[in-house]
Amino acid sequence: MAASVDSVSATPHWIHVASLAELQKDGRATVNAGDHVIAMFYRDGKIFAVDNRCPHMGFPLDRGSVKDCILTCHWHHARFDLNTGGTFDQWADDVRAFPTRVEGDEVFVDVSMPRDRRSHHLARLRDGLERDIPLVIAKSILPLASQRDSIEAFRVALEFGARNRAGGWGSGLTTLVCMANLSKHLAPEDRPRAMFHGISEVASDCDGQAPRFPVRPLPGGASDAAQLKRWFRQFVEVRDGEGAERCIATAVRDGYDRAAIADMLFAAATDHRYLTIGHALDFANKALEALNLAGWDLAEPVLTSLAPVLSSGERMEERNSWRSPIDLVQILERAFEELPAALGSGRKSSPLQPRKNDLVPILLGEDPEALASALLDSIRQGVGVVDLAAIVVYAAALRLAQFPTSNEFGDWDTAHHSFTFANAVHRGLMRVESPELVRGMFDAAMSVYLNRFLNVPAAKIPELRSNGHRTREVLADLPALFDTQQQVNQVAARVTNYFSASADPAPIAAALGRMLLREDRDFHSIQSMEAAFPLALASHDAQLASHFTIATARYLAAHAPTVRAQGQTFRIAERLYRGERVFDEE
Ligand code: FES
Repeated sequence: MAASVDSVSATPHWIHVASLAELQKDGRATVNAGDHVIAMFYRDGKIFAVDNRCPHMGFPLDRGSVKDCILTCHWHHARFDLNTGGTFDQWADDVRAFPTRVEGDEVFVDVSMPRDRRSHHLARLRDGLERDIPLVIAKSILPLASQRDSIEAFRVALEFGARNRAGGWGSGLTTLVCMANLSKHLAPEDRPRAMFHGISEVASDCDGQAPRFPVRPLPGGASDAAQLKRWFRQFVEVRDGEGAERCIATAVRDGYDRAAIADMLFAAATDHRYLTIGHALDFANKALEALNLAGWDLAEPVLTSLAPVLSSGERMEERNSWRSPIDLVQILERAFEELPAALGSGRKSSPLQPRKNDLVPILLGEDPEALASALLDSIRQGVGVVDLAAIVVYAAALRLAQFPTSNEFGDWDTAHHSFTFANAVHRGLMRVESPELVRGMFDAAMSVYLNRFLNVPAAKIPELRSNGHRTREVLADLPALFDTQQQVNQVAARVTNYFSASADPAPIAAALGRMLLREDRDFHSIQSMEAAFPLALASHDAQLASHFTIATARYLAAHAPTVRAQGQTFRIAERLYRGERVFDEE
């Protein structure tokens, strides 16, 4: 039953907005109701009211056209059902439609909140992922910036990526996890942009891909954990992805502990040498990190997505460079035969620290036999494998820090892959000291050896010295440097100036993170930074921290500036979120 004018106006959410006669005469009106600007339309005896701000990019909808109850925005032609506000163009969004009432000649609208905004933003995030629409993703991320909501957004993207790419875990999900890990090093205002990059990369990576149909666990589970691990490695060995996937699903469903699952994955990822230039192990490590962030209830879809990656990878035994003129695989296999005894003799309650200054020259040297022996000897002497792996990561970082710009450009990636692989081995060993994973450390060291031609001649790393520079001035210089191509050595000099003035890596990490986020996403630049910052922070040594930071800053400088199209999309979303006008009135 219609309310009287008095009783309607006494209701808090019903607001008087227009005269019926005037609306009938003009066919449309723009009115204010509380905080809202509302576009009113009169068509075929009915009154419609929608938010005047187009949900796509904010154009005034009162300038739109109405035909057959469809309102078309005059900027990018998004179409809306005037009754419900629902859009026919998923790249836009539903516009809010307000209930209307007429009493006599007076028109009222109800501006009470009609929907659960959080659920709406999460639903739109899924729309953006499914259709690979970066602007929709950016607009969804910004209101989901709280700790609780950003974890939920991360979960949505993680599960989507794990289920919707037949080839399994890929660069999209790796970028997502890298960005989530990087967030803690970034200024709070930069974190939503990091999530935007990560989630958009998942959407892009899944776009046009067939979905993944999961393999169910063994009925009743597996009775023997050692046997399941053996089966898993054997199925990966013969490139049987579905057999391998069934083993992972069974291990998860049976409730194997996390270390046992990690051990199983790491063993298969290192049964062959430097599998897929290190990506297979890196992806396995990132999948485990993702579950620590999102929750292990997603373990089955997430970890089974690794099966195609592990079983289809390229094995470096098949590459000439690992076989000739020196058979590196043979050297490694001999070392692996001695590894169980070395690990057994070396285990002590408090492991020795590695002698970095002795080991690094061997790792960067010319003799692969000496390199394998030095690692084995260190283990025998009781050096902890985690600390030893950290030295290998450092040697790999030096290849980037000393990469001369006279090299072919594509070779940056050769040096980069060794660094991220060595980093994955190190992080994997921090998770579980799997004896099989220790082989990965030897593989990483051998790939550092193979990359020695990329440091001929080695670029000089500037030395730390007290030179009167102030950290604030150094950080202020960075944007201009990254606006110009190939400022590789200039950036290294600035990083050195910074660490000459301060041993705290956190501010320069945040500043470089911001430089990274300005650029269009480059998988390797992101991986490199995500690897380098925790190493710099954990080093507690200004020189070591500067070398890790120089490695990643030089890589980014070599790949900047990009056209920054993704940053433009995110800026549009930010302006819309703040209620600013994006369209140009001039
Ligand atoms: S369609 Fe309305 S602003 Fe783009």
